[in-house]
Amino acid sequence: MQTLAALLRERAPGDQLALKDRALDVAAEGVTIADARLPDRPLIYVNEGFERVTGYPAAEALGRNCRFLQGPGTDLVEVERIRAAVAGERECVVEILNYRKDGTTFWNRLSITPVRDDRGEVTHFIGVQSDVTARRLAEEGLRSAKEALEHDLRMAARVQQSLLPPPEMHLPGLRVARAFHPCTDLGGDAVGVVPLPHDSVGLYLADVSGHGVGAALLSFTLNHLLSPSRDGSVLVEDAGEGPAVVSPARLAGRLNRQFPMGRTRQYFTLVYGAYDGSRGRLRYVVSGHPPPILLPVARPPAPLPGQGLPIGMFEDASWQDETVTLEPGDRIYFYTDGVTEAHDDSEVEFGSARLMAELERVRGLPLREGLDLVADAVREWSGGGPKDDVSLLAIERVNRRTGVEGARTPASAW
Ligand SMILES: Cc1cc2nc3c(=O)[nH]c(=O)nc-3n(C[C@H](O)[C@H](O)[C@H](O)COP(=O)(O)O)c2cc1C
Repeated sequence: MQTLAALLRERAPGDQLALKDRALDVAAEGVTIADARLPDRPLIYVNEGFERVTGYPAAEALGRNCRFLQGPGTDLVEVERIRAAVAGERECVVEILNYRKDGTTFWNRLSITPVRDDRGEVTHFIGVQSDVTARRLAEEGLRSAKEALEHDLRMAARVQQSLLPPPEMHLPGLRVARAFHPCTDLGGDAVGVVPLPHDSVGLYLADVSGHGVGAALLSFTLNHLLSPSRDGSVLVEDAGEGPAVVSPARLAGRLNRQFPMGRTRQYFTLVYGAYDGSRGRLRYVVSGHPPPILLPVARPPAPLPGQGLPIGMFEDASWQDETVTLEPGDRIYFYTDGVTEAHDDSEVEFGSARLMAELERVRGLPLREGLDLVADAVREWSGGGPKDDVSLLAIERVNRRTGVEGARTPASAW
């Protein structure tokens, strides 16, 4: 392909100039030349592109300093940048709000370059004006859409926080604490404590697949479904002899039918337990969730038995109830895999052994205080920003009459 210089060499000098003019005129950008040697640097050339961009015919622009394009909305900081560059005979590029002849505004991406003669003295400045309004509007639209979305997410996160049980609850014979740290403003974890008939309490921790709005919506729905309502709850049934607590395994089956993955494109893991306060007995089900950890008063912590498929994945899945009886002072911890799978800089997972060591470490502390420390340890492990939600729910059986927990045996005793 021929270069412009080669093309021009083939022509007579007059033709060369006409060709350059033509090239400048068909350009989409405005091209202007100001004379640096005349007072106030007036324009001595504008191409057709300038006329198209600004609406000013050449006759109205020539002889004037190009600041006539500025108006009340023009940012004076940008004007100052141009002034300094021109005074310092330097190149500059700015984006500045300018006004067309008809008074409408446009964003001008303006580049100004000094031209020097053989002695190095600046004789002219060349300006190139591009109308970048469409890009700026798109950027502004995107920015305000992002701001609106962020605002909505913050509001939704607030609603989610308001649905949480209090961080600590003192129920007859039972102490409950929870920690909830979504990795984004909105979490896909759901945590709840629900009063049930017959001196019982329902406790659950669910972890919806994925993050963000989709996961949060399903976790909202779950919270709503599992919360007590005037029409009763899915956690309670009446088989003719008054209200009875639904078995955890039956609940898992119900939820599985209600939230098939084919419809929601999501599944969730769940650990749900119904604690019978009169017997100190927890009946629970584990659905694709890490098994709860039992921290007995006088023995080291250990995972409880129980395993089952996540909810929503398989239509014909079934679950099995597990049972554990607590002595006063015994604790049980539910947690999401965001805890054990939190990893540090070297991709090492927090893991269940470390979690159990942490639970051991805080066994002498009140339930909530200890739980908060464990959640802090997980967050610290992943540098303060885990990739997944970190949620924990803990219970401790307390002596019904005194409200005092059982004697705590320090780890050093075994
Ligand atoms: C070649 C050239 C082209 C210019 N084109 C524009 C322009 O399109 N829009 C604009 O706002 N300023 C433009 N300016 C900048 C103004 O002419 C002026 O330098 C600027 O407003 C700073 O000086 P002042 O503070 O004296 O106004 C151009 C300057 C030069 C030298």
